[in-house]
Amino acid sequence: MVQIAVDGPAGSGKSTIAKKIAEYLNITYIDTGAMYRALTYKVLVNNVDVQDEDAIIKLARESDIKFFQGDIYLDNNIVNEEIRLPEVNKNVSYVAKIPQVRKILIGIQKKAASNRDVVMDGRDIGTHVLTNANLKIFLTATVEQRSRRRYEELKNKGLDVNFDDVKRDIINRDKIDRERKFSPLAKADDAIVIDTTDLSVADVINKIIPLLGEG
Ligand code: C5P
Repeated sequence: MVQIAVDGPAGSGKSTIAKKIAEYLNITYIDTGAMYRALTYKVLVNNVDVQDEDAIIKLARESDIKFFQGDIYLDNNIVNEEIRLPEVNKNVSYVAKIPQVRKILIGIQKKAASNRDVVMDGRDIGTHVLTNANLKIFLTATVEQRSRRRYEELKNKGLDVNFDDVKRDIINRDKIDRERKFSPLAKADDAIVIDTTDLSVADVINKIIPLLGEG
């Protein structure tokens, strides 16, 4: 079985790279960030306060969240676009830091990966979800570069965004993700670090391909 964990902070290139590795190996790709985003979207749509942990846990228990063949499903509806809204960016880390929410989503993720070749990206994949992965990659890049990538991405979607706001969001999200007690953003001891600041997508893939056979 081939299981690959790709972790790192916001805008480090995880999903682009994880998708490419999955395509290259012709195996399943699972975006775990999309799952936390889908729940956050549901929290916002239901006007639940992001500080109301009990209400959010209840929503998490009642929700059907899955990532399947490139699409994120929330209660059987595809919400690929909705989960990328700036409001979701702003709030997702508050939802994702609730331990009970993480336990529920980690359970779904482990089940989705069980007995399957998979590339999964997130924050705690190497440390909590695929602890026995054949290969663990931890991507990093400067805050400036990560913010620039996210800003371009949002602008290309036609959203009216401001670079400083995007940067502030990223800094804030990373801080919460790193500092939370249960399954924080962290490099697994056995993960390989790749700094993508000055690398193209092709450069990063060329660094990873030789590692694939070594697991
Ligand atoms: O990867 P992405 O930026 O879409 O993730 C959105 C948010 O979801 C992260 O900032 C983090 O709060 C949360 N997340 C997480 N654990 C994961 C994946 C994402 O806490 N495995």
